[in-house]
Amino acid sequence: MKTITLFEGDGIGPEITSSVIQILEACKLPLQFEKYDIGQTAYEKCGELIPNESIESIKRNKVALKAPVTTPIGKGFRSVNVQLRMIFDLYANVRPAKLLPNIKSRYENIDLIVFRENTEDLYIGEETVISPDEVHAIKKITRKSSERIIRSAFEYAADHHRNKVTCVHKANILKKSDGLFLEIFNQIKEEYPQIEANDLIVDNACMQLVMKPEQFDILVMPNLYGDILSDLTSGLIGGLGLLPSAQWNDEYAVFEAVHGSAPDIAGKNIANPTALLLSACMMLDYLGFQTEATQIRNAINKTLENIDQCTKDIGGKSSTTDYTQAIINNL
Ligand code: NAI
Ligand code: MG
Repeated sequence: MKTITLFEGDGIGPEITSSVIQILEACKLPLQFEKYDIGQTAYEKCGELIPNESIESIKRNKVALKAPVTTPIGKGFRSVNVQLRMIFDLYANVRPAKLLPNIKSRYENIDLIVFRENTEDLYIGEETVISPDEVHAIKKITRKSSERIIRSAFEYAADHHRNKVTCVHKANILKKSDGLFLEIFNQIKEEYPQIEANDLIVDNACMQLVMKPEQFDILVMPNLYGDILSDLTSGLIGGLGLLPSAQWNDEYAVFEAVHGSAPDIAGKNIANPTALLLSACMMLDYLGFQTEATQIRNAINKTLENIDQCTKDIGGKSSTTDYTQAIINNL
Protein backbone atom coordinates (compact mmCIF):
# COMPACT_ATOMS: atom_id res chain seq x y z
CA MET A 1 0.00 0.00 0.00
CA LYS A 2 1.44 3.38 -1.04
CA THR A 3 0.59 6.41 1.12
CA ILE A 4 0.09 9.79 -0.50
CA THR A 5 -0.20 13.19 1.17
CA LEU A 6 -3.49 14.83 0.25
CA PHE A 7 -4.30 18.53 0.46
CA GLU A 8 -7.97 19.29 -0.15
CA GLY A 9 -7.21 22.97 -0.51
CA ASP A 10 -9.57 25.95 -0.33
CA GLY A 11 -12.50 27.27 -2.38
CA ILE A 12 -13.47 24.59 -4.92
CA GLY A 13 -10.60 22.42 -3.60
CA PRO A 14 -12.69 20.09 -1.37
CA GLU A 15 -15.33 19.54 -4.11
CA ILE A 16 -12.89 18.60 -6.87
CA THR A 17 -10.79 16.54 -4.42
CA SER A 18 -13.85 14.53 -3.41
CA SER A 19 -14.58 13.89 -7.09
CA VAL A 20 -11.02 12.73 -7.81
CA ILE A 21 -10.82 10.48 -4.74
CA GLN A 22 -14.12 8.78 -5.69
CA ILE A 23 -12.79 8.07 -9.18
CA LEU A 24 -9.44 6.78 -7.83
CA GLU A 25 -11.30 4.57 -5.34
CA ALA A 26 -13.39 3.13 -8.17
CA CYS A 27 -10.10 1.92 -9.73
CA LYS A 28 -9.30 -0.08 -6.57
CA LEU A 29 -5.65 0.96 -6.45
CA PRO A 30 -3.35 0.06 -3.56
CA LEU A 31 -3.20 3.71 -2.46
CA GLN A 32 -4.14 5.42 0.76
CA PHE A 33 -4.32 9.12 1.46
CA GLU A 34 -3.09 11.08 4.47
CA LYS A 35 -5.04 14.34 4.69
CA TYR A 36 -3.34 17.54 5.83
CA ASP A 37 -4.12 21.25 5.51
CA ILE A 38 -2.25 24.03 3.78
CA GLY A 39 -3.35 27.49 2.67
CA GLN A 40 -6.26 29.44 4.09
CA THR A 41 -7.89 26.46 5.87
CA ALA A 42 -4.62 25.71 7.66
CA TYR A 43 -4.19 29.38 8.55
CA GLU A 44 -7.67 29.55 10.09
CA LYS A 45 -7.09 26.37 12.11
CA CYS A 46 -3.56 26.94 13.39
CA GLY A 47 -2.31 30.33 12.23
CA GLU A 48 0.14 28.92 9.69
CA LEU A 49 -0.17 28.63 5.90
CA ILE A 50 2.08 25.57 5.73
CA PRO A 51 1.98 23.77 9.10
CA ASN A 52 5.00 21.67 10.01
CA GLU A 53 2.97 18.42 10.07
CA SER A 54 2.04 19.01 6.39
CA ILE A 55 5.71 19.39 5.46
CA GLU A 56 6.59 16.30 7.52
CA SER A 57 3.91 14.31 5.70
CA ILE A 58 5.40 15.16 2.27
CA LYS A 59 8.88 14.31 3.61
CA ARG A 60 7.56 10.90 4.70
CA ASN A 61 5.46 10.03 1.66
CA LYS A 62 7.51 11.81 -1.06
CA VAL A 63 4.34 12.20 -3.18
CA ALA A 64 1.48 14.66 -2.72
CA LEU A 65 -1.78 15.39 -4.50
CA LYS A 66 -2.69 19.00 -3.94
CA ALA A 67 -5.90 20.89 -4.65
CA PRO A 68 -5.62 24.66 -5.19
CA VAL A 69 -5.19 26.85 -2.14
CA THR A 70 -5.97 30.45 -1.38
CA THR A 71 -3.06 32.65 -0.35
CA PRO A 72 -4.58 35.36 1.88
CA ILE A 73 -3.96 38.80 0.37
CA GLY A 74 -2.00 41.41 2.31
CA LYS A 75 -0.21 40.97 5.67
CA GLY A 76 2.96 40.08 3.73
CA PHE A 77 1.99 36.45 3.01
CA ARG A 78 4.27 34.62 0.58
CA SER A 79 2.56 32.38 -1.96
CA VAL A 80 2.02 28.89 -0.56
CA ASN A 81 2.99 27.43 -3.92
CA VAL A 82 6.27 29.35 -4.17
CA GLN A 83 7.10 28.33 -0.58
CA LEU A 84 6.44 24.63 -1.29
CA ARG A 85 8.70 24.80 -4.37
CA MET A 86 11.49 26.34 -2.31
CA ILE A 87 11.14 23.99 0.72
CA PHE A 88 11.30 20.87 -1.45
CA ASP A 89 13.44 22.31 -4.29
CA LEU A 90 10.85 21.15 -6.84
CA TYR A 91 12.90 22.24 -9.81
CA ALA A 92 10.75 20.93 -12.64
CA ASN A 93 7.29 22.28 -13.36
CA VAL A 94 5.75 20.01 -15.96
CA ARG A 95 2.59 21.17 -17.73
CA PRO A 96 1.13 18.98 -20.46
CA ALA A 97 -1.38 20.61 -22.83
CA LYS A 98 -3.32 17.99 -24.76
CA LEU A 99 -6.46 18.73 -26.68
CA LEU A 100 -9.30 16.49 -25.43
CA PRO A 101 -12.09 15.23 -27.71
CA ASN A 102 -15.10 17.48 -28.27
CA ILE A 103 -13.49 20.54 -26.63
CA LYS A 104 -13.90 23.75 -28.62
CA SER A 105 -10.53 24.89 -29.96
CA ARG A 106 -9.09 26.47 -33.09
CA TYR A 107 -6.71 23.54 -33.44
CA GLU A 108 -7.03 19.86 -34.15
CA ASN A 109 -4.10 18.10 -32.67
CA ILE A 110 -2.20 19.55 -29.73
CA ASP A 111 -0.13 17.32 -27.47
CA LEU A 112 2.78 19.23 -26.00
CA ILE A 113 4.47 19.54 -22.61
CA VAL A 114 6.15 22.59 -21.12
CA PHE A 115 9.11 21.89 -18.81
CA ARG A 116 9.58 25.08 -16.81
CA GLU A 117 12.62 25.61 -14.58
CA ASN A 118 11.03 26.35 -11.22
CA THR A 119 13.69 27.69 -8.84
CA GLU A 120 15.64 30.58 -10.34
CA ASP A 121 15.65 33.18 -13.16
CA LEU A 122 13.91 36.46 -12.20
CA TYR A 123 11.82 34.59 -9.57
CA ILE A 124 14.58 34.68 -6.94
CA GLY A 125 13.02 38.04 -6.05
CA GLU A 126 16.24 40.06 -5.86
CA GLU A 127 15.20 43.57 -6.78
CA THR A 128 17.31 46.53 -5.75
CA VAL A 129 15.98 50.07 -5.68
CA ILE A 130 18.88 52.18 -6.95
CA SER A 131 16.91 55.41 -6.72
CA PRO A 132 13.20 56.34 -6.78
CA ASP A 133 13.50 56.24 -10.56
CA GLU A 134 15.58 53.12 -11.05
CA VAL A 135 15.21 49.46 -10.03
CA HIS A 136 17.44 46.52 -10.93
CA ALA A 137 16.22 42.91 -10.87
CA ILE A 138 18.56 39.93 -10.92
CA LYS A 139 18.10 37.14 -13.44
CA LYS A 140 19.91 34.11 -12.06
CA ILE A 141 20.80 31.18 -14.35
CA THR A 142 23.08 28.45 -13.02
CA ARG A 143 24.65 25.44 -14.72
CA LYS A 144 23.26 23.12 -12.02
CA SER A 145 19.60 24.20 -12.34
CA SER A 146 19.74 24.45 -16.13
CA GLU A 147 21.33 21.02 -16.45
CA ARG A 148 18.76 19.31 -14.26
CA ILE A 149 15.68 20.78 -15.97
CA ILE A 150 17.07 20.17 -19.49
CA ARG A 151 18.11 16.61 -18.63
CA SER A 152 14.72 16.03 -17.05
CA ALA A 153 13.02 17.08 -20.32
CA PHE A 154 15.19 14.74 -22.43
CA GLU A 155 14.81 11.85 -19.96
CA TYR A 156 11.03 12.29 -20.00
CA ALA A 157 11.09 12.34 -23.81
CA ALA A 158 13.17 9.17 -23.92
CA ASP A 159 10.95 7.36 -21.38
CA HIS A 160 7.65 8.39 -22.99
CA HIS A 161 8.43 7.91 -26.68
CA ARG A 162 8.43 11.63 -27.38
CA ASN A 163 10.36 12.66 -30.49
CA LYS A 164 11.41 16.26 -30.07
CA VAL A 165 12.67 18.72 -27.46
CA THR A 166 12.65 22.46 -28.15
CA CYS A 167 14.67 24.92 -26.06
CA VAL A 168 13.04 28.36 -25.67
CA HIS A 169 15.35 31.27 -24.82
CA LYS A 170 16.42 34.84 -25.60
CA ALA A 171 20.13 34.17 -26.01
CA ASN A 172 20.40 36.70 -28.84
CA ILE A 173 19.95 39.50 -26.26
CA LEU A 174 20.75 37.80 -22.93
CA LYS A 175 23.95 36.36 -24.34
CA LYS A 176 25.46 35.29 -21.02
CA SER A 177 22.46 34.11 -18.96
CA ASP A 178 20.17 32.56 -21.57
CA GLY A 179 23.37 31.92 -23.50
CA LEU A 180 24.45 29.56 -20.70
CA PHE A 181 21.06 27.83 -20.73
CA LEU A 182 21.28 27.32 -24.50
CA GLU A 183 24.90 26.18 -24.32
CA ILE A 184 23.94 23.50 -21.78
CA PHE A 185 20.96 22.46 -23.94
CA ASN A 186 23.31 22.03 -26.91
CA GLN A 187 25.64 19.88 -24.80
CA ILE A 188 22.95 17.65 -23.34
CA LYS A 189 21.14 17.07 -26.64
CA GLU A 190 24.24 15.21 -27.90
CA GLU A 191 23.53 12.50 -25.31
CA TYR A 192 20.12 11.83 -26.89
CA PRO A 193 20.80 11.39 -30.62
CA GLN A 194 17.48 9.57 -31.10
CA ILE A 195 15.53 12.70 -30.04
CA GLU A 196 15.21 15.66 -32.40
CA ALA A 197 16.37 18.88 -30.72
CA ASN A 198 15.97 22.49 -31.80
CA ASP A 199 15.84 25.93 -30.20
CA LEU A 200 13.66 28.98 -30.69
CA ILE A 201 13.88 32.56 -29.50
CA VAL A 202 10.96 33.13 -27.10
CA ASP A 203 9.12 35.73 -29.20
CA ASN A 204 9.21 33.48 -32.24
CA ALA A 205 8.13 30.54 -30.03
CA CYS A 206 4.99 32.48 -29.00
CA MET A 207 4.07 33.16 -32.61
CA GLN A 208 4.72 29.55 -33.64
CA LEU A 209 2.65 28.22 -30.72
CA VAL A 210 -0.34 30.27 -31.80
CA MET A 211 0.08 29.63 -35.54
CA LYS A 212 1.07 25.98 -35.53
CA PRO A 213 1.06 24.32 -32.10
CA GLU A 214 0.96 20.85 -33.67
CA GLN A 215 4.71 21.11 -34.45
CA PHE A 216 5.67 21.04 -30.74
CA ASP A 217 6.31 18.07 -28.52
CA ILE A 218 8.38 18.91 -25.41
CA LEU A 219 9.53 22.47 -24.68
CA VAL A 220 12.11 23.36 -22.04
CA MET A 221 12.86 26.86 -20.79
CA PRO A 222 13.90 29.13 -17.90
CA ASN A 223 11.31 30.08 -15.26
CA LEU A 224 9.81 33.32 -16.64
CA TYR A 225 9.26 32.09 -20.20
CA GLY A 226 7.81 28.88 -18.74
CA ASP A 227 5.31 30.77 -16.61
CA ILE A 228 4.09 32.82 -19.56
CA LEU A 229 4.18 30.15 -22.27
CA SER A 230 2.37 27.54 -20.16
CA ASP A 231 -0.56 29.93 -19.66
CA LEU A 232 -0.53 30.47 -23.42
CA THR A 233 -0.68 26.71 -24.00
CA SER A 234 -3.62 26.34 -21.56
CA GLY A 235 -5.49 28.80 -23.78
CA LEU A 236 -4.79 26.60 -26.80
CA ILE A 237 -6.61 23.58 -25.33
CA GLY A 238 -9.79 25.16 -23.98
CA GLY A 239 -9.05 26.66 -20.60
CA LEU A 240 -8.09 26.35 -17.00
CA GLY A 241 -10.40 23.52 -15.95
CA LEU A 242 -8.40 21.11 -18.12
CA LEU A 243 -4.71 21.76 -17.45
CA PRO A 244 -2.85 19.42 -15.06
CA SER A 245 0.67 19.81 -13.72
CA ALA A 246 3.42 18.12 -11.77
CA GLN A 247 6.25 19.69 -9.84
CA TRP A 248 9.08 17.36 -9.04
CA ASN A 249 12.73 16.69 -8.38
CA ASP A 250 14.57 13.39 -8.03
CA GLU A 251 13.00 12.69 -4.63
CA TYR A 252 9.65 14.51 -4.26
CA ALA A 253 6.64 15.09 -6.50
CA VAL A 254 3.58 17.29 -6.02
CA PHE A 255 0.68 16.95 -8.48
CA GLU A 256 -1.87 19.73 -8.87
CA ALA A 257 -4.20 21.53 -11.27
CA VAL A 258 -2.82 24.74 -12.79
CA HIS A 259 -5.94 26.74 -11.82
CA GLY A 260 -6.62 28.40 -8.46
CA SER A 261 -9.24 27.94 -5.75
CA ALA A 262 -11.97 29.73 -7.79
CA PRO A 263 -13.77 31.33 -4.80
CA ASP A 264 -16.39 32.75 -7.20
CA ILE A 265 -17.86 29.28 -7.81
CA ALA A 266 -16.95 27.50 -4.55
CA GLY A 267 -19.66 25.43 -2.88
CA LYS A 268 -21.96 25.49 -5.93
CA ASN A 269 -21.20 21.97 -7.20
CA ILE A 270 -20.26 23.32 -10.66
CA ALA A 271 -16.43 23.22 -10.58
CA ASN A 272 -14.66 21.15 -13.21
CA PRO A 273 -12.54 18.42 -11.55
CA THR A 274 -10.80 17.39 -14.82
CA ALA A 275 -7.53 19.31 -14.28
CA LEU A 276 -7.03 17.79 -10.82
CA LEU A 277 -8.09 14.37 -12.14
CA LEU A 278 -5.54 14.59 -14.99
CA SER A 279 -2.94 15.65 -12.41
CA ALA A 280 -3.85 12.50 -10.44
CA CYS A 281 -3.34 10.52 -13.70
CA MET A 282 0.17 12.02 -13.96
CA MET A 283 0.69 10.85 -10.39
CA LEU A 284 -0.46 7.32 -11.28
CA ASP A 285 1.95 7.28 -14.25
CA TYR A 286 4.72 8.44 -11.92
CA LEU A 287 3.90 5.68 -9.42
CA GLY A 288 3.85 3.00 -12.11
CA PHE A 289 0.05 2.62 -12.42
CA GLN A 290 -0.01 3.45 -16.14
CA THR A 291 -2.87 1.04 -16.86
CA GLU A 292 -5.21 2.74 -14.41
CA ALA A 293 -4.09 6.21 -15.57
CA THR A 294 -4.99 5.26 -19.15
CA GLN A 295 -8.29 3.78 -17.97
CA ILE A 296 -9.23 7.09 -16.29
CA ARG A 297 -8.12 9.19 -19.29
CA ASN A 298 -10.22 6.99 -21.57
CA ALA A 299 -13.23 7.39 -19.25
CA ILE A 300 -12.81 11.20 -19.35
CA ASN A 301 -12.65 11.12 -23.17
CA LYS A 302 -15.72 8.89 -23.35
CA THR A 303 -17.64 11.20 -21.02
CA LEU A 304 -16.66 14.23 -23.14
CA GLU A 305 -18.22 12.58 -26.21
CA ASN A 306 -21.55 13.66 -24.76
CA ILE A 307 -20.64 17.20 -23.77
CA ASP A 308 -23.92 17.65 -21.83
CA GLN A 309 -22.52 15.27 -19.20
CA CYS A 310 -19.67 17.71 -18.47
CA THR A 311 -19.49 20.85 -16.36
CA LYS A 312 -20.61 24.27 -17.65
CA ASP A 313 -17.15 25.82 -18.08
CA ILE A 314 -16.49 23.53 -21.07
CA GLY A 315 -19.97 23.78 -22.54
CA GLY A 316 -21.76 21.06 -20.56
CA LYS A 317 -24.84 21.04 -18.36
CA SER A 318 -23.85 18.82 -15.45
CA SER A 319 -22.91 19.37 -11.84
CA THR A 320 -19.52 18.31 -10.48
CA THR A 321 -21.08 15.26 -8.81
CA ASP A 322 -23.04 14.13 -11.92
CA TYR A 323 -19.95 14.54 -14.13
CA THR A 324 -17.97 12.51 -11.58
CA GLN A 325 -20.57 9.74 -11.64
CA ALA A 326 -20.55 9.73 -15.46
CA ILE A 327 -16.76 9.22 -15.47
CA ILE A 328 -17.07 6.38 -12.94
CA ASN A 329 -19.75 4.75 -15.12
CA ASN A 330 -17.38 4.99 -18.11
CA LEU A 331 -14.37 3.48 -16.33
P1 NAI B 1 -8.65 30.84 -10.47
O1 NAI B 1 -7.91 29.89 -11.33
O2 NAI B 1 -9.06 30.35 -9.13
O3 NAI B 1 -9.98 31.30 -11.23
C1 NAI B 1 -9.98 32.00 -12.50
C2 NAI B 1 -11.34 31.79 -13.19
O4 NAI B 1 -11.42 30.45 -13.68
C3 NAI B 1 -12.53 31.95 -12.25
O5 NAI B 1 -13.59 32.56 -12.94
C4 NAI B 1 -12.90 30.54 -11.85
O6 NAI B 1 -14.26 30.37 -11.55
C5 NAI B 1 -12.51 29.75 -13.11
N1 NAI B 1 -12.07 28.39 -12.78
C6 NAI B 1 -10.88 28.03 -12.25
N2 NAI B 1 -10.82 26.71 -12.06
C7 NAI B 1 -11.99 26.20 -12.48
C8 NAI B 1 -12.55 24.90 -12.50
N3 NAI B 1 -11.86 23.82 -12.07
N4 NAI B 1 -13.80 24.72 -12.99
C9 NAI B 1 -14.50 25.78 -13.44
N5 NAI B 1 -14.03 27.06 -13.44
C10 NAI B 1 -12.80 27.27 -12.95
O7 NAI B 1 -7.74 32.15 -10.34
P2 NAI B 1 -7.90 33.44 -9.39
O8 NAI B 1 -9.32 33.81 -9.27
O9 NAI B 1 -6.93 34.39 -9.92
O10 NAI B 1 -7.36 32.97 -7.97
C11 NAI B 1 -8.19 32.56 -6.88
C12 NAI B 1 -7.32 32.10 -5.72
O11 NAI B 1 -6.57 30.93 -6.11
C13 NAI B 1 -6.27 33.11 -5.25
O12 NAI B 1 -6.25 33.09 -3.85
C14 NAI B 1 -4.95 32.58 -5.78
O13 NAI B 1 -3.88 32.91 -4.96
C15 NAI B 1 -5.20 31.09 -5.74
N6 NAI B 1 -4.38 30.31 -6.71
C16 NAI B 1 -3.91 29.11 -6.27
C17 NAI B 1 -3.21 28.27 -7.12
C18 NAI B 1 -2.77 26.96 -6.58
O14 NAI B 1 -3.00 26.63 -5.43
N7 NAI B 1 -2.14 26.12 -7.40
C19 NAI B 1 -2.92 28.66 -8.50
C20 NAI B 1 -3.51 29.92 -8.90
C21 NAI B 1 -4.20 30.71 -8.00
MG1 MG C 1 1.70 31.61 -13.91
